[in-house]
Amino acid sequence: MAENSADNRILEVKHLVTTFATETGPLRAVDGVSFSVNRGKSLGIVGESGCGKSVTSLSILRLLPKPAGCIAGGEVWFDGVDLVRLTPDEMRYIRGKRISMIFQEPMTALNPVHRIDKQLGEVYALHFPKMSLAEIRSASIELLNKVGISDPDQRLRDYPHQLSGGMRQRVMIAMALACRPQILIADEPTTALDMTIQAQILTLMKSLQQETGMAIIFITHDLGVIAETCDDVVVMYAGTVAERAPVNDLFKSPKHPYTLGLLASIPRLETPPKQRLATIEGMVPDLQNIPEGCRFQNRCHYAQDRCREASPPEETVAGDHRVSCYRWQEISLQKKGDF
Ligand SMILES: Nc1ncnc2c1ncn2[C@@H]1O[C@H](COP(=O)(O)OP(=O)(O)OP(=O)(O)O)[C@@H](O)[C@H]1O
Ligand SMILES: [Mg+2]
Repeated sequence: MAENSADNRILEVKHLVTTFATETGPLRAVDGVSFSVNRGKSLGIVGESGCGKSVTSLSILRLLPKPAGCIAGGEVWFDGVDLVRLTPDEMRYIRGKRISMIFQEPMTALNPVHRIDKQLGEVYALHFPKMSLAEIRSASIELLNKVGISDPDQRLRDYPHQLSGGMRQRVMIAMALACRPQILIADEPTTALDMTIQAQILTLMKSLQQETGMAIIFITHDLGVIAETCDDVVVMYAGTVAERAPVNDLFKSPKHPYTLGLLASIPRLETPPKQRLATIEGMVPDLQNIPEGCRFQNRCHYAQDRCREASPPEETVAGDHRVSCYRWQEISLQKKGDF
């Protein structure tokens, strides 16, 4: 498929395994995850809390907390280079300049004791050491304008706590975009914000993407956000990829029972107010006591003996639509009511 030829891929994660040393033994937070991101396109990563979305993105950027976290296997190809094998210095160059990240909670990424101009200025100074102070100032103002912050002159003099949540997230986006990265990783960029601001931030990110041609990885709990913003989607479950596909294929013909469960839990306009949304019953398995076989077996209405014996391999449904389920051929959207 021309769309997904190797040349089109800006990032390819292959069989990534990330572990944490814990008091009770090693925990495989990410266990054999593979997906790719196309140039200039948006990939959504979705899944319940704890399924490994943030750890996947921290692994890509090699920002795992040390010494507990480590990449124990796999490859992360970015523009012909395996990031897993780069030295810390080489990785520092990639990080921020070529791949940037917006974190789940902007206050943790902004330094509360420095004004915005200093924090934004540091990004420029680090990556463009030849820029003068005056150039940094005018570039900062232009960037804040671009992310929709009015009165940027004044805002640059503010401390983070003087800004609203939406403003702080815009500043984070500005900092992440200062070096015109080829990939922006946005980890739940809008969950802390109210719905109107969420919509504004997502629209802003899409328009900046059109202007700069960057690829975006959107991490979210919300398949609804993915439907509106992404070209491709990866559904993660308990540290693995359950299903991945171009977004239309996933919504038209989901194949993993877990994806069906997630789809059934999206609020819809026609859902009467106060009616409870469907939720997937049962618990995600403890990552330190992973059962044999499929990780979704204890919550799955389709589980059979073989699902309890060995992990299902990833199979191709059609084109770039892939699923890890023994019974995907029997599953269709009509069965959604089962979950
Ligand atoms: N520093 C750490 N030490 C030990 N375990 C960790 C650490 N960070 C994450 N984990 C574990 O790794 C797993 C994946 O966590 P991760 O933060 O990637 O989930 P997530 O999908 O981003 O969830 P959320 O939607 O809540 O942000 C979890 O079981 C978590 O407890
Ligand atoms: Mg997370």
